Amino acid sequence: MGNEELTYHVPVLLMPSVDGMNIRPDGTYVDVTFGGGGHSREILSRLGDGGQLLGFDQDEDAEQNIVDNPHFIFVRSNFRYLHNFLRYHEIEEVDAILADLGVSSHHFDDSERGFSFRFDGALDMRMNKRAGDTAADIINNYDEERLADIFYLYGELKNSRKLASVLVKARTVQKITTIGEFLEVIKPLFGREREKKELAKVFQALRIEVNQEMEALKEMLYAATEALKPGGRLVVITYHSLEDRMVKNIMKTGNVEGKMEKDFFGNVQTPFRLVNNKVIVPDEAEIERNPRSRSAKLRIAEKKG
Ligand SMILES: C[S@@+](CC[C@H](N)C(=O)[O-])C[C@H]1O[C@@H](n2cnc3c(N)ncnc32)[C@H](O)[C@@H]1O
Repeated sequence: MGNEELTYHVPVLLMPSVDGMNIRPDGTYVDVTFGGGGHSREILSRLGDGGQLLGFDQDEDAEQNIVDNPHFIFVRSNFRYLHNFLRYHEIEEVDAILADLGVSSHHFDDSERGFSFRFDGALDMRMNKRAGDTAADIINNYDEERLADIFYLYGELKNSRKLASVLVKARTVQKITTIGEFLEVIKPLFGREREKKELAKVFQALRIEVNQEMEALKEMLYAATEALKPGGRLVVITYHSLEDRMVKNIMKTGNVEGKMEKDFFGNVQTPFRLVNNKVIVPDEAEIERNPRSRSAKLRIAEKKG
Protein backbone atom coordinates (compact mmCIF):
# COMPACT_ATOMS: atom_id res chain seq x y z
CA MET A 1 0.00 0.00 0.00
CA GLY A 2 1.38 3.45 -0.94
CA ASN A 3 2.15 6.08 1.67
CA GLU A 4 -0.48 8.50 0.30
CA GLU A 5 -3.24 5.99 1.00
CA LEU A 6 -1.94 5.37 4.49
CA THR A 7 -1.84 9.09 5.24
CA TYR A 8 -5.36 9.39 3.87
CA HIS A 9 -6.62 6.62 6.13
CA VAL A 10 -5.25 3.53 7.87
CA PRO A 11 -7.77 0.70 7.39
CA VAL A 12 -9.29 -0.66 10.59
CA LEU A 13 -9.84 -4.37 11.32
CA LEU A 14 -8.69 -5.05 7.76
CA MET A 15 -8.16 -8.82 7.82
CA PRO A 16 -11.08 -9.88 10.04
CA SER A 17 -13.52 -7.77 8.01
CA VAL A 18 -12.34 -8.90 4.57
CA ASP A 19 -12.03 -12.53 5.76
CA GLY A 20 -15.60 -12.14 7.03
CA MET A 21 -16.77 -11.38 3.48
CA ASN A 22 -15.86 -14.94 2.41
CA ILE A 23 -14.45 -13.73 -0.90
CA ARG A 24 -14.62 -16.04 -3.92
CA PRO A 25 -12.44 -15.00 -6.89
CA ASP A 26 -15.44 -14.78 -9.25
CA GLY A 27 -17.89 -13.18 -6.79
CA THR A 28 -19.55 -9.74 -6.79
CA TYR A 29 -18.79 -7.44 -3.87
CA VAL A 30 -19.54 -3.94 -2.64
CA ASP A 31 -17.45 -1.71 -0.39
CA VAL A 32 -19.93 1.08 0.41
CA THR A 33 -17.28 3.22 2.18
CA PHE A 34 -14.27 3.24 -0.16
CA GLY A 35 -12.34 6.11 1.56
CA GLY A 36 -8.60 5.52 1.21
CA GLY A 37 -9.37 2.21 -0.49
CA GLY A 38 -7.58 0.04 2.09
CA HIS A 39 -10.35 -2.55 2.36
CA SER A 40 -11.08 -2.39 -1.37
CA ARG A 41 -7.45 -3.16 -2.23
CA GLU A 42 -7.48 -6.22 0.00
CA ILE A 43 -10.77 -7.41 -1.58
CA LEU A 44 -9.37 -6.85 -5.09
CA SER A 45 -6.26 -8.87 -4.24
CA ARG A 46 -8.57 -11.84 -3.69
CA LEU A 47 -10.56 -11.46 -6.95
CA GLY A 48 -9.89 -13.20 -10.26
CA ASP A 49 -11.77 -13.91 -13.51
CA GLY A 50 -15.39 -12.81 -13.29
CA GLY A 51 -14.84 -11.06 -9.95
CA GLN A 52 -16.24 -7.57 -9.45
CA LEU A 53 -16.04 -4.88 -6.77
CA LEU A 54 -18.13 -1.72 -6.58
CA GLY A 55 -16.69 0.96 -4.27
CA PHE A 56 -18.94 3.78 -3.07
CA ASP A 57 -17.90 7.09 -1.57
CA GLN A 58 -19.84 10.32 -1.45
CA ASP A 59 -16.70 12.39 -0.96
CA GLU A 60 -14.95 13.52 -4.14
CA ASP A 61 -11.62 13.54 -2.28
CA ALA A 62 -11.80 9.71 -2.19
CA GLU A 63 -11.46 9.72 -5.99
CA GLN A 64 -7.72 10.35 -5.57
CA ASN A 65 -7.48 6.78 -4.22
CA ILE A 66 -9.33 5.04 -7.08
CA VAL A 67 -7.68 1.75 -7.92
CA ASP A 68 -6.71 1.03 -11.50
CA ASN A 69 -8.00 -2.52 -11.69
CA PRO A 70 -10.27 -4.13 -14.29
CA HIS A 71 -12.41 -5.68 -11.55
CA PHE A 72 -13.14 -2.32 -9.88
CA ILE A 73 -15.87 0.27 -10.43
CA PHE A 74 -15.97 3.49 -8.37
CA VAL A 75 -19.35 5.04 -7.60
CA ARG A 76 -19.24 8.62 -6.31
CA SER A 77 -22.50 8.56 -4.42
CA ASN A 78 -24.10 8.28 -1.07
CA PHE A 79 -24.50 4.61 -0.16
CA ARG A 80 -28.18 5.21 0.57
CA TYR A 81 -28.62 4.82 -3.21
CA LEU A 82 -27.06 1.34 -3.22
CA HIS A 83 -30.15 -0.23 -4.78
CA ASN A 84 -30.27 2.27 -7.70
CA PHE A 85 -26.59 1.88 -8.54
CA LEU A 86 -26.71 -1.92 -8.44
CA ARG A 87 -29.59 -1.75 -10.89
CA TYR A 88 -27.70 0.77 -13.04
CA HIS A 89 -24.74 -1.62 -13.24
CA GLU A 90 -27.14 -4.53 -13.94
CA ILE A 91 -26.17 -6.34 -10.75
CA GLU A 92 -29.05 -8.36 -9.33
CA GLU A 93 -27.43 -9.94 -6.30
CA VAL A 94 -24.13 -9.62 -4.48
CA ASP A 95 -21.99 -11.99 -2.45
CA ALA A 96 -20.97 -9.57 0.31
CA ILE A 97 -21.25 -5.95 1.34
CA LEU A 98 -18.72 -4.17 3.53
CA ALA A 99 -19.41 -0.90 5.36
CA ASP A 100 -16.69 0.81 7.40
CA LEU A 101 -18.80 3.67 8.69
CA GLY A 102 -18.19 7.29 9.55
CA VAL A 103 -15.44 9.61 8.40
CA SER A 104 -11.84 8.89 7.41
CA SER A 105 -8.68 10.26 8.99
CA HIS A 106 -8.42 12.49 5.94
CA HIS A 107 -11.59 14.26 7.06
CA PHE A 108 -10.22 14.91 10.54
CA ASP A 109 -6.80 15.93 9.28
CA ASP A 110 -7.94 18.38 6.60
CA SER A 111 -8.44 21.70 8.38
CA GLU A 112 -10.65 22.98 5.55
CA ARG A 113 -13.34 20.35 6.04
CA GLY A 114 -14.38 21.51 9.51
CA PHE A 115 -14.59 18.07 11.16
CA SER A 116 -12.03 18.68 13.89
CA PHE A 117 -11.85 21.08 16.81
CA ARG A 118 -8.05 20.95 16.54
CA PHE A 119 -8.17 23.52 13.72
CA ASP A 120 -9.92 26.77 13.01
CA GLY A 121 -11.76 27.07 9.71
CA ALA A 122 -15.26 27.02 8.24
CA LEU A 123 -17.84 25.02 10.19
CA ASP A 124 -18.64 22.71 7.29
CA MET A 125 -18.51 18.94 8.09
CA ARG A 126 -20.17 17.82 4.84
CA MET A 127 -18.72 14.58 3.48
CA ASN A 128 -20.23 15.51 0.13
CA LYS A 129 -18.94 19.05 -0.43
CA ARG A 130 -21.49 19.61 -3.20
CA ALA A 131 -24.71 19.12 -1.26
CA GLY A 132 -26.70 19.83 1.85
CA ASP A 133 -26.54 22.05 4.91
CA THR A 134 -23.21 22.76 6.59
CA ALA A 135 -22.72 22.61 10.36
CA ALA A 136 -22.85 26.43 10.35
CA ASP A 137 -26.26 26.36 8.60
CA ILE A 138 -27.56 24.07 11.32
CA ILE A 139 -26.14 26.07 14.22
CA ASN A 140 -27.46 29.35 12.85
CA ASN A 141 -30.88 28.19 11.63
CA TYR A 142 -32.27 25.29 13.66
CA ASP A 143 -34.58 26.25 16.50
CA GLU A 144 -33.40 25.73 20.05
CA GLU A 145 -35.36 22.56 20.69
CA ARG A 146 -34.14 20.86 17.52
CA LEU A 147 -30.52 21.78 18.34
CA ALA A 148 -30.91 20.36 21.84
CA ASP A 149 -32.37 17.14 20.41
CA ILE A 150 -29.39 16.70 18.09
CA PHE A 151 -26.86 17.16 20.90
CA TYR A 152 -28.82 14.78 23.10
CA LEU A 153 -29.62 12.08 20.54
CA TYR A 154 -26.44 12.04 18.49
CA GLY A 155 -23.88 13.21 21.04
CA GLU A 156 -25.53 11.81 24.19
CA LEU A 157 -24.60 15.10 25.86
CA LYS A 158 -26.08 15.67 29.30
CA ASN A 159 -26.13 19.47 28.97
CA SER A 160 -27.74 19.48 25.51
CA ARG A 161 -30.42 22.03 26.51
CA LYS A 162 -27.88 24.44 27.96
CA LEU A 163 -25.69 24.10 24.87
CA ALA A 164 -28.59 24.87 22.55
CA SER A 165 -29.67 27.86 24.61
CA VAL A 166 -26.15 29.35 24.73
CA LEU A 167 -25.80 28.97 20.96
CA VAL A 168 -29.15 30.54 20.21
CA LYS A 169 -28.28 33.53 22.42
CA ALA A 170 -24.85 33.96 20.85
CA ARG A 171 -26.12 33.82 17.27
CA THR A 172 -28.55 36.68 17.83
CA VAL A 173 -25.50 38.88 18.45
CA GLN A 174 -23.39 37.48 15.61
CA LYS A 175 -23.67 34.56 13.17
CA ILE A 176 -21.39 31.63 14.08
CA THR A 177 -19.48 30.61 10.97
CA THR A 178 -16.05 29.34 12.05
CA ILE A 179 -14.86 26.63 14.40
CA GLY A 180 -13.05 29.30 16.44
CA GLU A 181 -16.25 31.28 16.98
CA PHE A 182 -18.17 28.10 17.81
CA LEU A 183 -15.58 26.97 20.38
CA GLU A 184 -15.53 30.39 22.01
CA VAL A 185 -19.26 30.08 22.67
CA ILE A 186 -19.40 26.47 23.88
CA LYS A 187 -16.06 25.88 25.64
CA PRO A 188 -17.05 27.67 28.87
CA LEU A 189 -19.74 24.98 29.36
CA PHE A 190 -17.21 22.21 29.82
CA GLY A 191 -14.78 21.58 32.64
CA ARG A 192 -11.10 21.49 31.65
CA GLU A 193 -10.50 17.81 32.29
CA ARG A 194 -13.51 16.60 30.27
CA GLU A 195 -13.27 19.29 27.59
CA LYS A 196 -11.83 17.14 24.77
CA LYS A 197 -14.28 14.29 25.33
CA GLU A 198 -17.27 16.61 25.42
CA LEU A 199 -16.15 18.56 22.35
CA ALA A 200 -15.73 15.27 20.49
CA LYS A 201 -19.36 14.46 21.32
CA VAL A 202 -20.58 17.89 20.16
CA PHE A 203 -18.70 17.53 16.87
CA GLN A 204 -19.95 13.97 16.41
CA ALA A 205 -23.56 15.10 16.91
CA LEU A 206 -23.26 17.87 14.34
CA ARG A 207 -21.49 15.62 11.86
CA ILE A 208 -24.24 13.00 12.10
CA GLU A 209 -26.91 15.62 11.48
CA VAL A 210 -25.04 17.39 8.65
CA ASN A 211 -24.55 14.12 6.78
CA GLN A 212 -27.90 12.58 7.73
CA GLU A 213 -25.86 9.58 8.80
CA MET A 214 -28.56 7.65 10.62
CA GLU A 215 -31.05 7.96 7.76
CA ALA A 216 -28.44 6.95 5.15
CA LEU A 217 -27.34 3.99 7.27
CA LYS A 218 -30.89 2.78 7.72
CA GLU A 219 -31.63 2.95 3.97
CA MET A 220 -28.36 1.24 3.10
CA LEU A 221 -28.93 -1.59 5.60
CA TYR A 222 -32.35 -2.37 4.12
CA ALA A 223 -31.01 -2.15 0.55
CA ALA A 224 -28.10 -4.41 1.52
CA THR A 225 -30.46 -6.97 3.06
CA GLU A 226 -32.38 -7.07 -0.24
CA ALA A 227 -29.29 -7.21 -2.45
CA LEU A 228 -27.44 -10.07 -0.74
CA LYS A 229 -27.64 -13.58 -2.16
CA PRO A 230 -28.62 -16.40 0.16
CA GLY A 231 -25.37 -17.18 1.97
CA GLY A 232 -24.11 -13.63 1.23
CA ARG A 233 -22.37 -11.67 3.97
CA LEU A 234 -23.08 -8.29 5.55
CA VAL A 235 -19.92 -6.98 7.23
CA VAL A 236 -20.10 -3.71 9.15
CA ILE A 237 -17.58 -1.75 11.23
CA THR A 238 -19.15 0.90 13.48
CA TYR A 239 -17.59 3.61 15.65
CA HIS A 240 -20.37 4.74 17.99
CA SER A 241 -23.24 3.15 19.84
CA LEU A 242 -26.04 4.61 17.69
CA GLU A 243 -24.67 3.04 14.52
CA ASP A 244 -23.83 -0.16 16.30
CA ARG A 245 -27.36 -0.50 17.68
CA MET A 246 -28.89 -0.22 14.19
CA VAL A 247 -26.48 -2.77 12.75
CA LYS A 248 -26.98 -5.19 15.64
CA ASN A 249 -30.75 -4.83 15.30
CA ILE A 250 -30.91 -5.48 11.57
CA MET A 251 -28.70 -8.53 11.94
CA LYS A 252 -30.72 -9.95 14.82
CA THR A 253 -34.25 -9.02 13.80
CA GLY A 254 -34.22 -7.85 10.17
CA ASN A 255 -35.20 -4.28 11.14
CA VAL A 256 -33.22 -1.36 12.55
CA GLU A 257 -35.58 -0.83 15.51
CA GLY A 258 -34.93 -4.35 16.80
CA LYS A 259 -38.63 -5.35 16.81
CA MET A 260 -38.78 -9.09 17.17
CA GLU A 261 -41.27 -10.84 14.95
CA LYS A 262 -41.78 -14.45 15.88
CA ASP A 263 -43.22 -17.34 13.90
CA PHE A 264 -45.87 -19.77 15.16
CA PHE A 265 -43.20 -21.71 17.09
CA GLY A 266 -41.77 -18.63 18.75
CA ASN A 267 -38.63 -18.40 16.59
CA VAL A 268 -37.46 -14.86 15.78
CA GLN A 269 -37.97 -14.15 12.07
CA THR A 270 -34.77 -12.67 10.70
CA PRO A 271 -33.15 -12.80 7.27
CA PHE A 272 -29.72 -13.26 8.88
CA ARG A 273 -27.64 -15.77 10.81
CA LEU A 274 -24.99 -14.15 13.01
CA VAL A 275 -21.47 -15.20 12.04
CA ASN A 276 -19.93 -13.72 15.20
CA ASN A 277 -22.14 -13.61 18.27
CA LYS A 278 -19.73 -11.30 20.07
CA VAL A 279 -18.53 -8.15 18.35
CA ILE A 280 -14.97 -8.25 17.03
CA VAL A 281 -12.77 -5.37 18.25
CA PRO A 282 -9.19 -4.35 17.43
CA ASP A 283 -6.48 -5.92 19.59
CA GLU A 284 -4.04 -3.86 21.67
CA ALA A 285 -1.41 -3.90 18.92
CA GLU A 286 -3.82 -2.42 16.36
CA ILE A 287 -5.00 0.26 18.80
CA GLU A 288 -1.40 1.18 19.52
CA ARG A 289 -0.55 1.35 15.81
CA ASN A 290 -3.75 3.22 14.96
CA PRO A 291 -5.41 4.90 17.98
CA ARG A 292 -8.42 5.84 15.82
CA SER A 293 -9.38 2.15 15.71
CA ARG A 294 -10.08 2.21 19.46
CA SER A 295 -13.87 2.48 19.22
CA ALA A 296 -14.33 0.11 16.25
CA LYS A 297 -16.76 -2.79 16.43
CA LEU A 298 -17.12 -5.38 13.70
CA ARG A 299 -20.29 -7.42 13.13
CA ILE A 300 -20.76 -10.06 10.46
CA ALA A 301 -24.00 -11.77 9.43
CA GLU A 302 -24.94 -14.20 6.69
CA LYS A 303 -28.15 -14.05 4.72
CA LYS A 304 -30.21 -17.16 5.28
CA GLY A 305 -30.96 -19.44 2.30
C1 LIG B 1 -14.00 5.08 7.75
S1 LIG B 1 -13.87 5.67 6.13
C2 LIG B 1 -13.59 4.21 5.20
C3 LIG B 1 -12.16 3.89 5.06
C4 LIG B 1 -11.84 2.72 4.13
N1 LIG B 1 -12.42 1.49 4.58
C5 LIG B 1 -10.35 2.57 3.98
O1 LIG B 1 -9.83 1.50 4.31
O2 LIG B 1 -9.69 3.51 3.55
C6 LIG B 1 -15.49 6.02 5.67
C7 LIG B 1 -15.65 6.56 4.24
O3 LIG B 1 -17.00 6.42 3.88
C8 LIG B 1 -17.49 7.58 3.30
N2 LIG B 1 -18.89 7.65 3.65
C9 LIG B 1 -19.44 7.82 4.88
N3 LIG B 1 -20.77 7.83 4.80
C10 LIG B 1 -21.08 7.63 3.50
C11 LIG B 1 -22.30 7.53 2.78
N4 LIG B 1 -23.48 7.66 3.39
N5 LIG B 1 -22.25 7.30 1.46
C12 LIG B 1 -21.06 7.19 0.82
N6 LIG B 1 -19.87 7.29 1.43
C13 LIG B 1 -19.88 7.51 2.76
C14 LIG B 1 -16.65 8.71 3.86
O4 LIG B 1 -16.58 9.78 2.94
C15 LIG B 1 -15.31 8.04 4.10
O5 LIG B 1 -14.44 8.22 3.01
